[in-house]
Amino acid sequence: MTPFLKLKPTSLELKEEMNAPYVGAKHRVTVGNGLDALRIALVAHDIEPSDKVIVPAHMDASPLEGAMTRTTKAIIPVHLYGQSADMDPSCEFSPRHGLVVIGDTAQAHRACFRGKMCGALRHAAAFSFYPRKNLGAFSVGGAITTNDDAVARRACKLRNNGSEKCYHHQVAGTDSRLDQLQAVFLRVKLRNLAEWNLRRAAITERYQFQLSTLRSWLSLSFVHQWSAPVWQLFMIRSNKRDLLQQHSVDRGIQTVIHYPMLPYRGPAYQSHRELSFALTEEIIRRILSLLCGPHFTTEQIEACANQINSSMEFQR
Ligand SMILES: Cc1ncc(COP(=O)(O)O)c(C=O)c1O
Repeated sequence: MTPFLKLKPTSLELKEEMNAPYVGAKHRVTVGNGLDALRIALVAHDIEPSDKVIVPAHMDASPLEGAMTRTTKAIIPVHLYGQSADMDPSCEFSPRHGLVVIGDTAQAHRACFRGKMCGALRHAAAFSFYPRKNLGAFSVGGAITTNDDAVARRACKLRNNGSEKCYHHQVAGTDSRLDQLQAVFLRVKLRNLAEWNLRRAAITERYQFQLSTLRSWLSLSFVHQWSAPVWQLFMIRSNKRDLLQQHSVDRGIQTVIHYPMLPYRGPAYQSHRELSFALTEEIIRRILSLLCGPHFTTEQIEACANQINSSMEFQR
């Protein structure tokens, strides 16, 4: 008799494969998405809803002293656009105040800070496998990486309704297991991650080359000396961003604004309305991300760069 199809514990296999060469950390706990990875990592470190967590408004995590309160328990540096955040301020500041540091690595799969993978820095890191990420599932997924045995064990329990043993709930957890089918996609795609990141770097070089004559009108993504980026996005900054975007859209070139709306200005966070981050507010009026991904051909990237060139000519 033909046996019933038996599903393999693929999400466990994925954990095994996301081994040292991929993230450099001892434990990988897969979860349902990147937001849950952050949430569960915080709870696994005993951070409670009433505690405060320092998160950068856009990129710069250095003014930590001013953000500190009596109830601050953690810092989340964000490795944005494929570049590692400067971890030195958090690493220097956090031990003095007993803070947990959890890296938001959703956009930085295999990116490095001073030669060390972002997934293996400080207490823990949170990954997203949203389809547009460097390692993207077909649908959604996430993972927590850590070197701490106890944190990994707690995270496993928390993602699984708070239980290690089926139907025995030891803590109030959540249902955030990585879907088996997503694990299969990720397992296959993981093999290509390093190569795809190299392709992203080549695309970036092409942009740098083709847009180099516009440097007095545009700022281009650049690499900090501490960072080995993986180019989740290629960003440009211009005073004429809106005109530039319209001109590109009119000619069939897609560009995106990451991110058009500041969370603390939106209806969901009315209680934080009084916040104001001048630098962030200035940055979001000027940034634009260009096509970047291993699936784009050199011709497509050149066409995009040519459009940016011609629209800047047009606006001079
Ligand atoms: C920096 C950053 N953090 C967290 C997340 C959340 O990840 P997810 O969409 O998988 O919940 C994202 C996803 O877009 C992200 O870009």
